[in-house]
Amino acid sequence: TGRLYQFKLVLLGESAVGKSSLVLRFVKDQFDDYRESTIGAAFLTQTIGLDNNTTVKFEIWDTAGQERYKSSLEKAKSWVKELQRQADPNIVIALAGNKSDLSARRVIDTEEAKAYADDTGLLFFETSAKTATNVNELFTSIARKMPLD
Ligand code: GTP
Ligand code: MG
Repeated sequence: TGRLYQFKLVLLGESAVGKSSLVLRFVKDQFDDYRESTIGAAFLTQTIGLDNNTTVKFEIWDTAGQERYKSSLEKAKSWVKELQRQADPNIVIALAGNKSDLSARRVIDTEEAKAYADDTGLLFFETSAKTATNVNELFTSIARKMPLD
């Protein structure tokens, strides 16, 4: 018994923000200090068991960031706008503020990001692929929010 649901999960964001590192942590529980920039896109899968005998399988597309050194909330907002305009209305969007372990080099205020996420109906987590903080929480919350009929 139990049901298996399959969903596509796409990571978007500028180069070097840690998209591949989040996926590596989630899928293999590993971290690499010298990760190569993704070329094109990488494809991986991972499953999450939810409590109610339900399994969610994510088909993960880890895309290549296009730009560098502009890791701003504004850029994330423009991705979200585009998704809300173009994607399926049932899309689940999560905002991950990664590299939370580098607190001395923080550039985006937690409260500002959280307020934006709340206003826009996004899941929001501050994550660290390095220390694993909130990485499983991020992906599990996405799984829980998927439309399971
Ligand atoms: P592109 O593939 O070019 O789009 O980059 P990306 O977003 O996939 O970034 P990637 O995962 O390759 O990480 C870039 C660099 O940041 C690597 O050197 C990682 O080791 C480092 N990094 C990623 N996540 C974290 C984190 O949570 N904390 C710290 N300290 N470093 C991180
Ligand atoms: Mg990458």
